[in-house]
Amino acid sequence: MKISEIQDKIIKLKKEHDICVLAHSYQAREIIEVADYAGDSYQLSVAASKATNKTVLMCGVRFMAETVKILSPQKKVILANPTAGCPMAEQMDKELISGVKKQFPDYTVVAYINTTAALKTICDVCVTSSSAVKIVERIENDKILFLPDCNLGAYVQSQLPHKEIKLLQGGCPIHAVVDVEDVKKAKSLYPDSLILVHPECVPEVVALADYVGSTSGIMEFATKSDAKSFLIGTEMSIAEHLQYTNAGSGKRFHCLSQKLLCPNMKITTLLEVLGCVSDGDDFGEEIILDDETVASAKSCIDKMIELGD
Ligand code: 13P
Ligand code: SF4
Repeated sequence: MKISEIQDKIIKLKKEHDICVLAHSYQAREIIEVADYAGDSYQLSVAASKATNKTVLMCGVRFMAETVKILSPQKKVILANPTAGCPMAEQMDKELISGVKKQFPDYTVVAYINTTAALKTICDVCVTSSSAVKIVERIENDKILFLPDCNLGAYVQSQLPHKEIKLLQGGCPIHAVVDVEDVKKAKSLYPDSLILVHPECVPEVVALADYVGSTSGIMEFATKSDAKSFLIGTEMSIAEHLQYTNAGSGKRFHCLSQKLLCPNMKITTLLEVLGCVSDGDDFGEEIILDDETVASAKSCIDKMIELGD
């Protein structure tokens, strides 16, 4: 079957079965094209909170599907590929952070959304890369315990010097390995390019950027910019999507480093999406969370949507 035939089937079946398909911007092009909504982590959370369908299919990683379930426990939520996890979300668990919280009792605990549902139950506010600066600024307490991504936390600190942000040593194993040498090498190949990077990159790389922002922020900046060449410092799918969406503009988008490939975001296939929107139970995994976890984890996600608005 051709890709376009599979896509047509998915579009027909998702309507028939009242399924909303959400896709993170790191998903493959052919999946983005069949999604009802594609975007960054923050946009997907808001889209999930507004969706009226009885089922939501998440093409992304596990914490994203859990977030949808927490926001809409009455809906059936399916993760398209059950093995798609985020290694950063697994770095810190509830037991570890309960201990850390005891050392910093007067700090507001801010959790990057890339955390498990269980860990969210003991955090005060969630943030995403696009909303972190705005939300931390709006928190009344100036003492912040930020987890798990020390690079995003360091970026927030650089933007909000009046806050006292305690960082823990977690981070994205894909973004965090890009180094200054990678940037220099890419810049020597494409000297006229603007450098756009995700704040999950290390501060030394962020310092060399012309723009720092979430996946959607990077896409918006590059699309609006008058520049013609860009080095994209986030998962490599973004350079590819930009090349498609800016076709005919004469713009060129290059990946900042070949290290920027997230296997977990690439593991979902179009055929799995087809399997999930069809009747069979052989594809995807329904997200089941107990009522107590949903109730306790919801407040920090609700707070994120309230403060991030
Ligand atoms: P955003 O969607 O907030 O840009 O985050 C990127 C990411 O790594 C998601 O796992
Ligand atoms: Fe997790 Fe990094 Fe992959 Fe995003 S890019 S899903 S933070 S490992």
